[in-house]
Amino acid sequence: MIAGTKWWQRGIIYHVYPRSFQDTDGDGIGDLKGIEQRLDHIAGLGCDAVWISPVYPSPMKDHGYDVADYTGIHPLFGTLDDFDRLVARAKALGLKVVMDFVPNHTSDRHAWFLESRASRESEKRDWYVWRDAGPDGSPPNNWISVFSGPAWTWDEATGQYYLHSFLPEQPDLNWRNPAVRAAMYDAMRFWLDRGIDGFRLDVVYYCMKDPQLRDNPPNPGWKPGMPEIDTLLQAHSNDHEDMAIVIREMRAVVDAYDDRLLIGEIYLPLERLMAYYGRDLSGAHLPFNFQLILTPWEAREVAALVAQYEGLLPQGGWPNWVLGNHDQKRVAARVGEAQARIAAMLLLTLRGTPTLYYGDELGMPNVDIPPGRGEDAWGRHEAGFSRDPQRTPMQWDDTEHAGFSTAEPWLPLSPDWRVRNVASQDRDPRSMLTLHRRLLALRRASPALAIGDWSGIETVEGDVFAFERHHQGDAITVVLNFGASEVEVADLRLPGGTGRIALSTHLDRDDQNVGPGVRLRPNEGVIIVA
Ligand code: GLC
Ligand code: MG
Repeated sequence: MIAGTKWWQRGIIYHVYPRSFQDTDGDGIGDLKGIEQRLDHIAGLGCDAVWISPVYPSPMKDHGYDVADYTGIHPLFGTLDDFDRLVARAKALGLKVVMDFVPNHTSDRHAWFLESRASRESEKRDWYVWRDAGPDGSPPNNWISVFSGPAWTWDEATGQYYLHSFLPEQPDLNWRNPAVRAAMYDAMRFWLDRGIDGFRLDVVYYCMKDPQLRDNPPNPGWKPGMPEIDTLLQAHSNDHEDMAIVIREMRAVVDAYDDRLLIGEIYLPLERLMAYYGRDLSGAHLPFNFQLILTPWEAREVAALVAQYEGLLPQGGWPNWVLGNHDQKRVAARVGEAQARIAAMLLLTLRGTPTLYYGDELGMPNVDIPPGRGEDAWGRHEAGFSRDPQRTPMQWDDTEHAGFSTAEPWLPLSPDWRVRNVASQDRDPRSMLTLHRRLLALRRASPALAIGDWSGIETVEGDVFAFERHHQGDAITVVLNFGASEVEVADLRLPGGTGRIALSTHLDRDDQNVGPGVRLRPNEGVIIVA
């Protein structure tokens, strides 16, 4: 515990995709009891919080991101009692629980939408975004759904279009209606009252759009191979300046409770992202920073990114870094297995709260899904964009179905599950899992790593990215070789001229003395204590 800091500043967040973590009832789909059983793994790794993707009642068109009831639990995952037990067990282990909350849209089966759709006179008509057709019957504007196709669906019965930024089964709520906002804040309080520690707000920046619903301009940067959504710049369909009001109100909801956390899922350029900290930090505590996923994996690019991000943060704004999630190709598939170790060391030594996606601690790959077994809505709507490959079941051991379930899992296991699993890596002093445990232990033990300042070592060039972290007397130097060749770094500017290796990504150089420079093997990173 470091005085004057919040748990979510010191802490490490572990992201669980509930369908794929642990099944306990033999239906091949993960559930709440399963997560509860496996909390030991998360705490044992050295994480402080678990964020769970949606477990609300849902027709599962977008695997839970289409919510039919914000204050319940889908029977597939269990019951509210199961949820309460999970939270209690987490607390006993010292883990915080962060819930996913989906404000921008509901399921088309949510009672609000059924009522809204029933007639133009419905009291809830204005809870969603309804508009007349153009003179020729066309949609009200040119907006495109993130999952491709028009963002508008015609409702025959009431003769109007409704807006859906995602699937037609995910109608957008009208956040300009105060009754909608009040209802959503009540739903947030329902969970805060049950003792959860915060929310991850799904695509929160979509809540406020251009009030005139103007057409989006074409994107001159679009190239074949990019998704259809990127043919247009999302100039009017999200991130309207009135988002400042919504995010401030959401923050006020959590601030009425003690020490809760608000995370925003926001895919925007860094300059725009910073606005979500809010004026005087009255917005999200952590607007998710996805730049490590989006930036080319090269030392100079990443070094420039970190410096830019650090420079743009508002006064007092706390940084954060994300390496993977259920929407993005797995880190091991993006950067390769050898560099995935560098990525882990980077994530867990940068300044700011790290978020770790389940299975990345094993180096799980993207998994080819055989034809006919695809589940993801995006993949079904637009060829080539399925997110199933990064959502396959967690690999616990080498027993049948990898210890995930007693039945055939909802998505196939990665073919490497018999060798790549928690049990085998647990015994291996050089495994990816061991690397994660040791990185987390170091981060927790070192005030410099947990909360210290960050500064780049600008004299280091080429494939190497080096930086320092310091807090009072504690100083750490991190040196990462992004290349596949051996390199000699001549001078690290170590505070005392020399230092000691606390950890190498290869896990075989403990306590070696170094200075003034260091020699790194291909794809090696080291943490040096002054
Ligand atoms: C977020 C979720 C993604 C979902 C989308 C629509 O981006 O992370 O999985 O499909 O929102 O809710
Ligand atoms: Mg199950």
